[in-house]
Amino acid sequence: MDINRKVALVTGAGSGIGRATAIRLAREGASVVAADVNEDGGRETVGMIEGSGGRATFVRVDVTKVDDARNMVSFAEETFDGLDILHNNAGIGSGQPAYPMGDPERWQEVLDVNLRGVILGTQYAIPAMQKRGGGAIVNTASLAGVAAGYALDPVYSASKGGVVMFTASLAPLGAEINIRVNCVCPGVVDTPMLRAPRDGRTEEEQRALEELLRRIAILQPEDIADAVIALIQDESASGQAMWVYNGKPRELHPLLDALSMARLIMGREARR
Ligand code: NAI
Repeated sequence: MDINRKVALVTGAGSGIGRATAIRLAREGASVVAADVNEDGGRETVGMIEGSGGRATFVRVDVTKVDDARNMVSFAEETFDGLDILHNNAGIGSGQPAYPMGDPERWQEVLDVNLRGVILGTQYAIPAMQKRGGGAIVNTASLAGVAAGYALDPVYSASKGGVVMFTASLAPLGAEINIRVNCVCPGVVDTPMLRAPRDGRTEEEQRALEELLRRIAILQPEDIADAVIALIQDESASGQAMWVYNGKPRELHPLLDALSMARLIMGREARR
């Protein structure tokens, strides 16, 4: 998709990866709706885009709320006449002692923001994109949702695994209605989420995390914005997960497609 003159909606645009993507989309010529529950951050992103000659506006959204998800899409349609691109990016870590300790209510919040938010945003964006003949949706998952998991925050990992499978399951929409849904799976990115105080974490867990951070190459939010832009532009990508990690080139990791899966469960693969 050529991004120039398109309308793009970014959730979690008030900080980190969402801000970097919003800025990048505007630089590519899109009109941007910066959506966030954090009004100050979201408005700051809009100011940054406008300051460099781009077009953007802010809408306050809690992505876990049905009405907010519906409203952010209609807001984009009312403000810029339609919607072509959605980056479902808002997300939180649990910031708790590792499961099974921790407050059960917080697990629900993590699942709601990271997975339900993506499901709701996608649901309301699809009919709006259909009015324009198609669109591109990129969800922010994580390497924690596809690779070895993330022992420090298993519920976060589960929520991101859910985003990857949700994305993969929507692959047929690319051919059916010209709406391509893909996801990015970042490694560790230098954003406020990474530096956030982890008041619930035990000293041992904090040490393990700091040790991990010392050993890995940390990405910048702009690295993830590049991957999001690549997935929007690549007309062949639908239902795919793009891994971005440790300074390696971006890699597309197609999940098992439906035909291969059918073969596996029918046992044909084994008979070959
Ligand atoms: P961040 O904390 O800098 O930004 C997250 C943004 O989401 C904030 O502006 C926050 O206000 C917003 N947000 C939180 N809850 C919301 C809600 N209910 N409704 C609307 N907005 C809400 O964090 P970062 O790192 O930029 O995270 C962006 C995405 O990237 C998240 O989905 C995160 O899980 C994912 N990610 C981050 C990695 C990292 O190492 N920083 C690694 C892999 C994935």
